[in-house]
Amino acid sequence: MAKKIIMDVDTGTDDAVAIMLAALHRDLDLVAVTTVNGNVPLEQTTDNTLRVLEWIGRGDIPVYAGLNKQVARQDFPTPRASKRDSKVHMPILPLPAPTGKRQHKSAPQFLIEAFAADPGLTLVAVAPLSNIATAIALDSSFVENVSELMIMGGGITRSNMTASAEFNIWADPEAAAVVFSAGFKKITMVPLDATHQATISEDQCAEFRMLKTRAANAAAELIEFRINGYKTTTIGPVPDNAPVHDALCIAALVDQSVIETRRVNVVVETTGDYTVGCTVVDHRHLTKREPNCDVAFNADGKKFFEIMRSTFA
Ligand code: BDR
Ligand code: CA
Repeated sequence: MAKKIIMDVDTGTDDAVAIMLAALHRDLDLVAVTTVNGNVPLEQTTDNTLRVLEWIGRGDIPVYAGLNKQVARQDFPTPRASKRDSKVHMPILPLPAPTGKRQHKSAPQFLIEAFAADPGLTLVAVAPLSNIATAIALDSSFVENVSELMIMGGGITRSNMTASAEFNIWADPEAAAVVFSAGFKKITMVPLDATHQATISEDQCAEFRMLKTRAANAAAELIEFRINGYKTTTIGPVPDNAPVHDALCIAALVDQSVIETRRVNVVVETTGDYTVGCTVVDHRHLTKREPNCDVAFNADGKKFFEIMRSTFA
């Protein structure tokens, strides 16, 4: 039976590829998508999400909009496309405007109700964790009702927003701190260290294009945009490649061997002068803090690409 999942996204070029992979893979049943402020403001993450789903003929999947700012901070601008990273994300994805609309219910309320009704659901959060933290604050049984939470975020030794923080965690650090310490039964964290081991190349985008499907064409266009963005920054160590962070989480749900995890403790820094949003990963068990998370230390790029290629075909 297909694994039922709900995705929390800030679409976003890599979110878009992740959504297509989740919506089209036969082993997954994408029940709904919730949106949050992140790569672009909430209105645009929601509009982009609707565009992606309709483009691949999955406009039947409901979209719920959530928080349009951080849970606590007044001083974080967040939307990323207007910042340094604008060469990797675009405000409006190059797909037709959606005909459908978002649902009326707010994302946190929907998440609370969906997980209370179906304990078999998996939550995949590939964006700032504002919606998840709000669901935790609103309903004391939410954490218990989520059997599995997969997060794209954080870094072990890598960062991409500040010298110490990855974007999804940095963009709402208080929310992330709440989520990691909430006591979820199973959290898998897919950090930058893993996503940068599974980058996609220009040649692989050409292979997508040869498939001549809507999803493959869109994936190629979005990933090529990312590759070009990385060419103009110093972030990408491998030439003509780019990570497609969020999609790696989906691939790992389909085939666990795509990532190699270790169970460790992770906490989120919220007060450091230089380290707000840093994920402190106790990879040598140097503290007495209980392990709370399976962290992906490695990823298999070949398997990742093959899962995408076969799905988009
Ligand atoms: C994460 O930040 C966002 O820009 C991407 O969509 C991804 O979820 C990578 O740091
Ligand atoms: Ca994202």
